[in-house]
Amino acid sequence: MTTPRPLIAGNWKMNGLAASLDEARAVAAALDAHPVGARVALCPPATLVERMAQVLAGTGVAIGGQDCRAEAGGAFTGDISAEMLAEAGASLVILGHSERRAGHGETDSDVAAKVAGALRAGLEPIVCVGETLEQRQAGQALAVVTGQLRGSLPAALADADFAVAYEPVWAIGSGLTPSLAEIEEVHVAARATLVELFGAAGARVPILYGGSVKPSNARDILAVKDVGGALVGGASLKAADFLGIINAA
Ligand code: G3P
Repeated sequence: MTTPRPLIAGNWKMNGLAASLDEARAVAAALDAHPVGARVALCPPATLVERMAQVLAGTGVAIGGQDCRAEAGGAFTGDISAEMLAEAGASLVILGHSERRAGHGETDSDVAAKVAGALRAGLEPIVCVGETLEQRQAGQALAVVTGQLRGSLPAALADADFAVAYEPVWAIGSGLTPSLAEIEEVHVAARATLVELFGAAGARVPILYGGSVKPSNARDILAVKDVGGALVGGASLKAADFLGIINAA
C-alpha cells in the first residue's frame, strides 16, 4: 500500500483582500520552479475563492473553502453551500474548525451534515478536531478527539477522499505546540479510530496537525508517526513562511 502524499493546507481565516493574491501567486511560482512531493492547498476567505482559483489555474495548488452549509441552497442568509464553493473553483473545504465550533455553536452532528454536503458537491473535506486547554489538563484530550471523530465523520466517507486535522484549540495562534510525543499520542489514537470506522480506508486518511506550525517546527512535526500533513493558519499568509513549511514536508 502506497503512503498518500502529505497535504499542506493554508487556512487564511478572515484575512486577505485581493492584494493577498500576490502571496498565492508567489507560492505557485516557487512550486513551479521547484516541484515538491507534498499536495498543497490554500483556503482563502469565500470572497477570494473564485479569484484565487483563476490565479492558481494550471498550478499544482488546490483551493479550499473554510466552511459550507449542509444544504445545497435556500433561505440561509450569509451562508455558502458546497456547490457554490465547487463552482467557484474549490476542490476542498475545511469543516468543523474549532473557531466554527466555538464561535458558531457547531456540534459534531452539524459537522457531519456539512461533510455530507461537501461530498454531494464533490469537495474533499478536511475535518477538524481538537481539545481545549481545560480538556487537556483534565486528561480528556484523547477522549475528546476520538469522540469528535466518531460524531463528525459520516459513514459515506468510507468511499471518499477526505482528511482529518488535529488542532489543539490552545495551540492555535498561540505560538504554543504540544510536545512531539503528545502529537504522536493523539494522531495514533485518531488513526485507530479511523481504522475502526472505515477499515483499511481509514489507514490511508491523512491526519494533519494544526496549531502554530511554522517553518522552524514543521520538519519535526511532520516526521511524527501518523502525521500526514499540516493545516497552517498565520504562517500560510506569507508565501515565504508557507513555502518553508511546504519544503519541510
Ligand atoms: O486552521 C489552522 C489553524 O487553526 C492554525 O492556526 O495560526 O496557529 O497556524 P495557526
